[in-house]
Amino acid sequence: MGLQAKPYLQRITALFGDHVDWDRHPYTVPAVRNLESIGFHPDVTFFIGENGAGKSTLLESIALALGFSMEGGTRNVRLNTAREDAPLFEALRLSQSFRTPRDGYFFRAESFHNVATYMDEVDYLHGYGDRSLHSRSHGEAFMAVLLNKFQGKGLYLLDEPEAALSPNRQLAALTAIHQLVEDESQFIIATHSPILLAYPNAKILLFDGTGITEVAYEDTEHYAITRDFLNHYPRRLEQLLKPE
Ligand SMILES: Nc1ncnc2c1ncn2[C@@H]1O[C@H](COP(=O)(O)OP(=O)(O)OP(=O)(O)O)[C@@H](O)[C@H]1O
Ligand SMILES: [Mg+2]
Repeated sequence: MGLQAKPYLQRITALFGDHVDWDRHPYTVPAVRNLESIGFHPDVTFFIGENGAGKSTLLESIALALGFSMEGGTRNVRLNTAREDAPLFEALRLSQSFRTPRDGYFFRAESFHNVATYMDEVDYLHGYGDRSLHSRSHGEAFMAVLLNKFQGKGLYLLDEPEAALSPNRQLAALTAIHQLVEDESQFIIATHSPILLAYPNAKILLFDGTGITEVAYEDTEHYAITRDFLNHYPRRLEQLLKPE
């Protein structure tokens, strides 16, 4: 067996020094507090878990450790609106492939607006289909990034990409992600989408009160709750909306 180029990011290992204040954010978050080491899938690794479980916190820190700016975008995008230092990234040791990815992007739904503004300001639009991302809808802008900006052979970090996308576009996003995977790309995606999570060449990491553990797709709440609700929604609504 020859050397594999992927995964570009193979593993992160947390080396917390003595200076860590365990009573302060982000070290009070169990997924961070109990973090030892995470191995990444060569194709797609999903971060899932309840709101507040620490997915974005860890994804941001990985992005910073890789050299992306906090606000997202390619490694060339430098924005100085970051809300605070995230020293967690300094504790992360990265195990990387001998091969460097040729492309990269850190997508955060929350700050995509700022990146779009920056792209307008530096007049850097040919990578995005030659039209301001501000003149597109949220979902159109995200699809423009996915289809035009991502070049392949890349390492892509996405935080809740589904926030922008209709169910139909989420299906299209699966196709686009798969094409990029086939073209030697690796993704790390924080998501709540039961559609995106179905992507088969993937590892799903659940963030919860005990830390981070791997789960199978059909064992996720996303799958079980969505399926149960859609199959039984009149009954579930009765239960959810019944007067006290
Ligand atoms: N700057 C901050 N200071 C203090 N606490 C913070 C800060 N940023 C986030 N937190 C807390 O850290 C925890 C983890 O937040 P994080 O954004 O990583 O969650 P998440 O898993 O991405 O959730 P979601 O699914 O809602 O996006 C939350 O309890 C949040 O309130
Ligand atoms: Mg988040």
